Amino acid sequence: MSKVYVFDHPLIQHKLTYIRDKNTGTKEFRELVDEVSTLMAFEITRDMPLEEIEIDTPVTTAKTKVLSGKKIAIVPILRAGIGMVDGVLKLIPAAKVGHIGLYRDPETLKPVEYYAKLPADVEERDFIIVDPMLATGGSAVEAINSLKTRGAKNIKFMCLIAAPEGVQAIQESHPDVDIYIAALDEKLNDHGYIVPGLGDAGDRLFGTK
Ligand code: URA
Repeated sequence: MSKVYVFDHPLIQHKLTYIRDKNTGTKEFRELVDEVSTLMAFEITRDMPLEEIEIDTPVTTAKTKVLSGKKIAIVPILRAGIGMVDGVLKLIPAAKVGHIGLYRDPETLKPVEYYAKLPADVEERDFIIVDPMLATGGSAVEAINSLKTRGAKNIKFMCLIAAPEGVQAIQESHPDVDIYIAALDEKLNDHGYIVPGLGDAGDRLFGTK
């Protein structure tokens, strides 16, 4: 069963409040999403493997630790996921960035992939899928399907706000994928918006309606 990690660090919760606030304008919204993404990246990288190397300090020789060079890829789900990429890259600057675009088929209401561009070495990388909102979970489940079909083995899903329905959808379809969130909200409303949520993440990030 996928584990769910709620990052309840005070800085994340503080910034998330202003992300939710409808009076927060596009510029500040974008900056806050970027900052929270960086803070979440700090938490999500806690289990990164280390190896010991020997270095010379000005005083002596010391055995110390460095990252053991695990290959990471960040994959935003278009379009709102793009708002989280730079924040994560601040802490993992060597990560590759793939993109997945999905639209909702008007008849089946199921997400259909219209774009996917991933690093060539999919099988060797650990993936972090980013999307600010985990609502029904349809897009998240399809994005994970898409990565797995191409050979990805180690996938994490990171979002700002999740609805219980979305968490359940990932847990049922992809029990090997852990979920990292800043807040677990109450429910979805009849229009598919997370309640209390933050509105349409893509529109608020890009200033569209
Ligand atoms: N996508 C959004 O941008 N907001 C929601 O509340 C749900 C899905």
